[in-house]
Amino acid sequence: MPVRALWWSHGALALYDQRWLPGETRILRLRRVRDVAEAIRNMSVRGAPSIGAAAAYGMAVASREGGWTPARAARLLAATRPTARDLFVGIEAVRQAWADGNDPLRSAHVYTAALVKECRDIGERGAPLLRRAKTVLTHCNAGALATVEWGTALAPIRVAREKGAELFVWVDETRPLLQGARLTAWELAKDHIPYAVIADNAAGHFLHSGEVDAVIVGADRIARNGDVANKIGTYEKAVLAKENRVPFYVAAPWSTFDHEAADGSQIPIEERSADEVLQFQGRSTAPARSAARNPAFDVTPARYVTAFITPEGVLKPAQVRSAIGRNRRGSAERPTPRS
Ligand code: MRU
Repeated sequence: MPVRALWWSHGALALYDQRWLPGETRILRLRRVRDVAEAIRNMSVRGAPSIGAAAAYGMAVASREGGWTPARAARLLAATRPTARDLFVGIEAVRQAWADGNDPLRSAHVYTAALVKECRDIGERGAPLLRRAKTVLTHCNAGALATVEWGTALAPIRVAREKGAELFVWVDETRPLLQGARLTAWELAKDHIPYAVIADNAAGHFLHSGEVDAVIVGADRIARNGDVANKIGTYEKAVLAKENRVPFYVAAPWSTFDHEAADGSQIPIEERSADEVLQFQGRSTAPARSAARNPAFDVTPARYVTAFITPEGVLKPAQVRSAIGRNRRGSAERPTPRS
């Protein structure tokens, strides 16, 4: 079994504080919704599906804390990070239950259990795509830490390995916060899956030299036309994969698909602090007062995606629109009424 990123324990949301991995294992126990919001904002918990589940539990925390209405707690949590669609879907699932007089904690449990099942299904549906692959490249962390359990990009790799495939994973380090080197490598090492960490700018070299059989990434938001927002650097991997005739797969649960966004231009891209680019572990890596830009995500146009791996199967980009229609999830992204 892979690690579990977050769980409910003794009246609190417990989660791995991912900022400290792989060096230290620290568990946060959150009993106030403001603390859940801060954990999402500062990326103690990260990865679109895990953010959604944390926010769902954040709503449950608010309901038990007292002094919060469903709408006010939803607004607080929705203001943490803008790109991952799952955040808004997770909030809305519990906001609605709470506003209807149902148990918010039960609703958060149901939301998270369904997500975990979808990720396992992504693994089962995606594993056959890797039948002939020996090596897979992935970007950022789209493993269990990012999705509560199993992963999205890592789920097909895990299931293929369970079924006896011998896969090797190229792990992009994923600057500036190194989610690949710190988190994906940590998960793979724990599961005894062979891997090598590579500098982000080495991916083209390995794709060109024929050492990558497939690329699989997760997503933060997928528009109706199949454009994909994912961790910064994904776009260039997709272009390089196409140039080198390597299949490029995007794996995601339904909470990541946005029926309201017609295409990638409608996906908000988070810009984070310049310090994440200008420093490493608190030490400057550029001259004092250097300017920097730090978009956390980019958009890969649908034409670079070979296929989407979803809980209901493998889809071509042209099939996304109708699949979103069938599996539509509500979201608290638009401002909720004041109360
Ligand atoms: O900024 P992060 O670390 O939250 O970004 C995470 C990613 O971009 C992941 O690739 C994405 O959420 C997919 S996780 C299954």
